[in-house]
Amino acid sequence: MEIKKVAFEKPVLNGEITVPGDKSISHRAVMLGSIAKGTTSISGFLDGEDCLRTIEIFRQLGVSIERNGTDVTVDSPGMDGWQQPADNLYAGNSGTTARLILGILAASRVTSVLTGDEYLSKRPMNRVALPLRSMGASIEGESDSSNLLPLTIKGGALTAIDYEMPIASAQIKSSILFAGLAADGETSVSEQTVSRDHTERMLEQFGVAIRKEGNKVSVKGGSVLSGTAVRVPGDISSAAFFMTAAAMVEGSSVTFKDVGLNPTRTGILDVLEAMGAKIDILEQSDGLGEPYGTVTISHNGLHATEISGELIPRLIDELPIIALLATQAQGVTVIRDAAELRVKETDRITAVTTELKKLGAQIEETEDGMIIHGPTALSGGVLSSYGDHRIGMMAGIAALVASGPISIEDPSCINISYPTFFNDLEKLAFPVDIQG
Ligand code: S3P
Repeated sequence: MEIKKVAFEKPVLNGEITVPGDKSISHRAVMLGSIAKGTTSISGFLDGEDCLRTIEIFRQLGVSIERNGTDVTVDSPGMDGWQQPADNLYAGNSGTTARLILGILAASRVTSVLTGDEYLSKRPMNRVALPLRSMGASIEGESDSSNLLPLTIKGGALTAIDYEMPIASAQIKSSILFAGLAADGETSVSEQTVSRDHTERMLEQFGVAIRKEGNKVSVKGGSVLSGTAVRVPGDISSAAFFMTAAAMVEGSSVTFKDVGLNPTRTGILDVLEAMGAKIDILEQSDGLGEPYGTVTISHNGLHATEISGELIPRLIDELPIIALLATQAQGVTVIRDAAELRVKETDRITAVTTELKKLGAQIEETEDGMIIHGPTALSGGVLSSYGDHRIGMMAGIAALVASGPISIEDPSCINISYPTFFNDLEKLAFPVDIQG
């Protein structure tokens, strides 16, 4: 097994970084560029493994996609011109690829088999397959319940639905809206708690008229998409690792350039502020869909907070690193209403609790969250990534506050969302010793 060992002697983080492109926005840019007729130019694309899977799938469907680093050009005949894929479509580890593409394939004219890696093959697909089937989609698995990949999708005519989501999930919302683009009638999705809205913003950029009423969003079937230019800002979920590091390590101050500031994603900034970190934000916008800006996070002491309710979907992917942060804060931090963490790339409640306990953290698992007592001195140790990029990065950041080296088992999963994570760690933290 591959192992990476990270050690520091009294580190301080200082400097400026530009984190790689937003994963959610990169996926959607390739998907909508492929559905649209014509050319879509994407800049700032995340060249991480998950988004590369999305590109590969659309290439198999006959869409021409050229990538030069973080610049991607999609040339599509439009959804009606896609070809029958010669092989299964492989989503790798990417839940976003699988769930969003299910909605797209259901509305297409092709028949395909969608597969995933060992982790993705255990993650629930019924959350999208059930509403899609109620639109008339033909999605079949190996068993009758067919909640798991591989799934066979026979594209065909769909009927619009008015769907109330049982959980706050942008993946479900997006999958249904994508299917709704080709359905007969107007498809609506309502959510009780607001989830990330990149799909809604990008649909408008591609020329689709969407209707919003409170927490309900609707698209009309037969909407025509035209290729466009998409600029992907830095991923705040990647920046969150070094934002947290800067907030934890005394004397640190880190600036993040061109990072996404979509309000449905900035829960991490609210938490850092509530816990006492100093935050400076210079917001910019190019008027193209997504707000972004320059953010500086500086250490300023840390105290506990409570994280629950509507805040959860705004920082769902940041909860592993927030748990580490809480081990260094004065008081008891409580995380509630986050049962969704159990069906991410791994069960993140069990994974975070197990791994942080190995370092001496006082952390308890609850059904829908964690309770963390701080501050605690952490020791070094050998931590597993569980093949989950965000657990692997949490382990890397833990080395900044641990008294000994941290070894990360299976660190390559970090390439899924942040291929330059260790470069940025070396750039910002001094002195650093990374082996393996
Ligand atoms: C994502 C939505 C979230 C998030 C995932 C990306 C998206 O999942 O955890 O990393 O791009 O739509 P859910 O929709 O399941 O909450």
